[in-house]
Amino acid sequence: MRILVFLFLMVPSCILAAGSSAPIPLDSVAPDLSDKASLQRGARTYVNYCLGCHAMKYQRFQRVAEDLGISQETMMANFVFDPSKKFGSHMENSMSVENAKQWFGNVPPDLTLYTKLKGGPDYFYTYMRSFYEDSTRPFGVNNLLYENVGMPHPLVHLQGVQRKVCKNVPKIAKNGGEMRDPLSGESIIEERCGDDLLVRGISPLSLVEGSGELSADSYDGLIYDLTNFLYYSGDPSRLERERLGGFVLLFLAFFYVFAWLLGREYLKEFH
Ligand code: HEC
Repeated sequence: MRILVFLFLMVPSCILAAGSSAPIPLDSVAPDLSDKASLQRGARTYVNYCLGCHAMKYQRFQRVAEDLGISQETMMANFVFDPSKKFGSHMENSMSVENAKQWFGNVPPDLTLYTKLKGGPDYFYTYMRSFYEDSTRPFGVNNLLYENVGMPHPLVHLQGVQRKVCKNVPKIAKNGGEMRDPLSGESIIEERCGDDLLVRGISPLSLVEGSGELSADSYDGLIYDLTNFLYYSGDPSRLERERLGGFVLLFLAFFYVFAWLLGREYLKEFH
């Protein structure tokens, strides 16, 4: 009976795991909320390149400034570009749903809770590094993680242009082995592109040398900072909670000594 209950409890986690299956493996990233400089850089990239399309309506400029150690003057001068916005305003933009639908086919989602609800930090980090050139799409780009995405690549001038890699590789049979010509015994070769190459351990995209202002490492760093910022925004009090958690544990350790001493006194009464 207990085993049945246990199996039943396992079901939701299996469904969740299946729901998060992405078309390509995700690169893992470890956000670090204690790195204020990284969070500040992430916020700067966000207001410069994303806020115009993606509001963060559950977040205020003031809260960001206070949490990340940015002064009110710096915030107003370098992070707030809309003159109608005040220090205490929510981080919203003026794009209407109708316009967005007409321009992009889809509405840019609010990203305040994105890493908490839709894509985790790994998903976001991988998504921002998976754009590739595709002339069949309205903005000339597509994304390996989100096929036919309606978003242009806002950082292409920094990252540079990525193209799908195509290679001649041995055809793989259903049983996982290489397919061979029955007469000659030689491997049968076929051309495969992009994510089809991943199972063969080949990188699916390649960067056109010199097409971006940043090196590959610097671009990854920029996206890391942005991921860090979105991770913070999804749960701004996490920083405070982690700090308080340390004190609580310390208190419990301290309290344990006295509880133990008291317990020892009580036990003396029993003979
Ligand atoms: C020109 C407008 C525009 C800009 C600028 C822009 N986006 Fe988007 N973004 C969109 C649109 C439109 C969608 C919806 C695409 C769709 O669902 O097809 C989207 C979708 C997304 C998604 C969601 C993908 C998903 O899983 O549903 C993420 C994450 C995202 N954008 C991040 C960013 C970040 C980070 C920046 C800044 C570096 C940025 N965007 C800049 C228009 C924009």
